[in-house]
Amino acid sequence: MTTTDSRFKVILVNAGPHKSGCTDRALREVAGALEENGVGADVFWVGTKPLASCVACKRCTVTGRCVFDDRVNEFTSVACDYDGIVLGSPVHFGAATGAATAFFDRAFYSLRQRVGDDAFRMKVGAAVASCRRAGNTATIDQLNRYFQLLQMPIATSRYWNIVHGATAEEVEQDVEGLQAMRFLGGNMAFLIKAIRAAQDAGIELPAQEPTTYTNFIH
Ligand SMILES: Cc1cc2nc3c(=O)[nH]c(=O)nc-3n(C[C@H](O)[C@H](O)[C@H](O)COP(=O)(O)O)c2cc1C
Repeated sequence: MTTTDSRFKVILVNAGPHKSGCTDRALREVAGALEENGVGADVFWVGTKPLASCVACKRCTVTGRCVFDDRVNEFTSVACDYDGIVLGSPVHFGAATGAATAFFDRAFYSLRQRVGDDAFRMKVGAAVASCRRAGNTATIDQLNRYFQLLQMPIATSRYWNIVHGATAEEVEQDVEGLQAMRFLGGNMAFLIKAIRAAQDAGIELPAQEPTTYTNFIH
C-alpha cells in the first residue's frame, strides 16, 4: 500500500439513485485503486431529491452558481479542489440517468461561468457505467462528452469501464468489471501525477485563444 499523496485527489460522482448500489460499488473499486496509487479519493452521491435540468436562465453567468441551490452547487463549490473527476451513472433506458444529465449539465455549465473556460483544463476525467445488460457504452460515450468540452484528458482502462448487476452484491460477482475499475484507477493516478510532473519540469500548457462563437450563422 502506498501512502496517499495529499497533493492529489479525485472526486467520484455517483449519479445513480442508490447510495450503496452498483455504481457506488464500481466507484469504490476505482477509489481503492487511486488510493493504492497514492491519490486521495472522495465519493459524492447526487442523492434522490428531484433535480431540475438546466433552464438556460444564464443566471450562473452573473453569480457563478446555479439558480437552483441544491447538490449541484455543493459539488461545484468543491470540484475545483480536485485533480480529477470520475462521473458514474447506472444505465437507464440505454443512457445515463435523468439525474446525471440534469446534474452534470448544470454543474459543468455553471462551473465554467464561475471559474472560466479553463475550469478543468488538464484535470483528468473518467466515466463509469453500471447496467444490468446493455446501454453501457452509450452511457460512457455520453459521460465522456463533459470532459471533451473542457480540455480534460480522459483516463481509460484495459477494457470497458463497466460493471454488470442489479445490486452491489451482484457487481461483486463481476470480477472482470471490478478489475477494469482497478486498472482505471491506476491509470488515472498515473496521468494525474504525470501531468503534475510535466508542469513541475517547466512544460507549459499551450497558449489559449479567446473563444470565437459563431453559432453557425456566418
Ligand atoms: C428506470 C431504469 C431503467 C433501466 N434501464 C436499463 C437499461 O436500459 N439497460 C440495462 O442494462 N439496465 C437498465 N436498468 C438497470 C440498472 O442500470 C442496473 O441495475 C444498474 O446496475 C443499477 O445501478 P445502481 O445500483 O447504481 O442504481 C435500468 C434501471 C432503471 C431503474
